[in-house]
Amino acid sequence: MKPRHFLTLLDLSSNELNHLMERAALMKANRHSRSTAGLMTGMTMAMLFEKTSTRTRVSFEVAASQFGGHALFLAPGDSQLSRGEPLSDTARIISSMADLIVMRTSAHDRVMTMAAYSRVPVINAMSDDFHPCQLLADVLTFIEKKGQIQDAKVAWIGDGNNVCHSWIHAAHQFGFDLQLACPPGYHPDKAVLDAANGKARIVSNPQTAISGCDLVVTDTWFSIGRETEKEERLKAFAGYCVTDALLQTAQPDALFMHCLPAYRGTEVSAEVIDGPQSVVWEEAENRLHAQKALIEFLLEGP
Ligand code: CP
Ligand code: NVA
Repeated sequence: MKPRHFLTLLDLSSNELNHLMERAALMKANRHSRSTAGLMTGMTMAMLFEKTSTRTRVSFEVAASQFGGHALFLAPGDSQLSRGEPLSDTARIISSMADLIVMRTSAHDRVMTMAAYSRVPVINAMSDDFHPCQLLADVLTFIEKKGQIQDAKVAWIGDGNNVCHSWIHAAHQFGFDLQLACPPGYHPDKAVLDAANGKARIVSNPQTAISGCDLVVTDTWFSIGRETEKEERLKAFAGYCVTDALLQTAQPDALFMHCLPAYRGTEVSAEVIDGPQSVVWEEAENRLHAQKALIEFLLEGP
């Protein structure tokens, strides 16, 4: 049987994603229970990371250890990929021994190649185009705080990047309204937006996106690999910093999220990210609980 993969949020149905949210909440509530402690006994999760990471690496490694399994971390330069071995060969080899593959890379087609040649489930731990694991944690956090995300109003402010693309997928899959304010030249991919079934739309400025919304989300303006574009991006994103003045036009109980790492004073002010409406710490911790639910789903089925 072909394994299920998780390369984008569209790889699971809405029902399956909602089921994951329920399992993740249970995993969190029962974090010290022994009931899932043996889920990965004797299993190995190979983690091939071609970009740096704090949250994603730690949460996946801790998940494997809480499930009684082993996480095998391969950084760039650790494998023969760095000496030109084809990714397709690497996928065949790793998946002949490991039970699960978690891959962080640049071009999205690399994670697709990994999945195409792997005989075990592959999880996209972030590519240049998508960050679906982040969205599992973000949606879980919103549901925890507000009860449900369906029909909520969410504002994305800033770069139309990988995390933004996964928010667009989430709007479609979980049924909420997403308004995006992105500077000219930094809009999300049109095909991703067009596939959102009208649940996501571009608006002209951050004020319009945020007005009356239940959640404000942003991300760094300098994603991994974009560091050399700093000067032009700083100019293009002027006026897109999420400040207290902007947040005040959202619902009074609106939440603020950021996948982190964050740069205070650039895409968000310190008073917002460190303020009472920010849920970034819960959001980061929920990476662990959401990914435990994902691992369970991929290894054991729905
Ligand atoms: N949010 C996130 O993916 O963080 P890391 O890059 O530290 O893994
Ligand atoms: N958009 C950011 C997210 C980091 C978690 C990046 O790609 O670097």
